[in-house]
Formats: sequence, C-alpha cells, structure tokens
Amino acid sequence: MNFEIRQPRIEDAESVIEHKIKVTKENPDTLATAIENQEPDLNDQIEKIKNTGENDLKLVAVDSDKVIGIINMFHDHRHKFRHIGQFGISVQQEYAGHGIGSKLIEEVVQFAKENEHIEKLILTVFGNNDGAIRLYEKFGFETEATLKDQVKLNDGSYTDLIYMSKWV
Ligand SMILES: CC(C)(COP(=O)(O)OP(=O)(O)OC[C@H]1O[C@@H](n2cnc3c(N)ncnc32)[C@H](O)[C@@H]1OP(=O)(O)O)[C@@H](O)C(=O)NCCC(=O)NCCS
Repeated sequence: MNFEIRQPRIEDAESVIEHKIKVTKENPDTLATAIENQEPDLNDQIEKIKNTGENDLKLVAVDSDKVIGIINMFHDHRHKFRHIGQFGISVQQEYAGHGIGSKLIEEVVQFAKENEHIEKLILTVFGNNDGAIRLYEKFGFETEATLKDQVKLNDGSYTDLIYMSKWV
C-alpha cells in the first residue's frame, strides 16, 4: 500500500472534506463527526488548515494527494491543562489494516514527546469500537475512565464513551 504522511495543505481542503464525508458514512456507529449536524464548508476547512496552533499537529495520509487518513492533535491552551494533547483519527475503510493508523499515531506520539508542553495524550473512543481500542492499546494507551451509555446511536441503543491516555 502506497501512502505518504504529511501536513495538510490548503489545496487538500476539498479532499479532506470528501474524506470526512466518507468515514462518517462508513462508521455510523463508531464515530461522532461535525458532519452529522452540518454540511461541511470549503472555506471553513481552508481556515482550519491555516489555523494550526504551533503546539497542534494535523497530519493527512495521502495516496497520490487523495486524503485517505487524518489525525488531528490539539494542545489544550488553558493554563492548568497545558500538559494535555487530545487527538482524533480516521482512516478510510478500503485503506484500513495497512499500518496507516499506526503510522499516524506514531507521528503524534513522537511530536508530543518532543513538544515542550505536552506530557499526556488523551482520546475518547466508543466502547463498541474494538479495533480502535486495540490500536490504542498497541501504543500503550490505557483506559482511564468509562462514561456509561454516554453515546446514543442511530438505532436508539447506547454505548460507553471510553477515555484513554498515555504519558509521553
Ligand atoms: C481504527 C483505525 C484508525 C485503524 O486504522 P488502520 O490504518 O486500520 O490501523 P493499522 O492498520 O495501523 O492497524 C493497527 C492495529 O489496529 C488494530 N485494529 C485496527 N482495526 C482493527 C479491526 N477492525 N479489528 C481488530 N483490530 C484492529 C490492530 O491491533 C492492528 O494492529 P496489528 O496490525 O498489529 O494487528 C481505522 O480503522 C479507522 O479510522 N476506523 C474508523 C474510524 C475510527 O474508528 N476512528 C477511531 C475513532 S476513536
């Protein structure tokens, strides 16, 4: 599988939106995305790409400039939370299982290790998302808290929201 990992460019905005639409459709029960509420807007996406904080890391996995995976890690600017970075990740189904998710997480962990503020990486994952939980555990993330039935799925059933973390 040929893929490259790099920072997103302004020209990627449309492909980023297509990716978000695709993974939202592919994962109706394991992902919560803004797209479920609101049509994505190209200018908003361009602004998001432009406005990456110096302690944030946004990366895309691309196959010949087509975005097939994304990881976004945000540093918490609030003074008492300045040691925290939180991230979310998605890889398109047809590209899953080829190490793209692992590579994206590796990059974020490395960035966090080298960053002067970030000491702890956190994420949330739905309790029904065994594949993603396994991926995070592979990188040493541990479950820290479980919010019971915090997520209400489309069919009206509930699943837990799990907080996982790793000190870097
Ligand atoms: C979860 C996700 C990011 C994994 O990305 P990926 O590119 O497939 O990950 P990799 O190929 O690097 O797989 C890494 C590990 O993840 C685990 N894993 C990933 N998907 C899995 C699945 N469906 N079943 C079991 N394990 C899985 C395995 O432990 C695997 O390690 P191994 O190859 O050494 O066995 C990707 O499948 C995805 O984006 N899914 C939909 C969106 C989502 O769930 N995002 C996370 C929300 S919190």
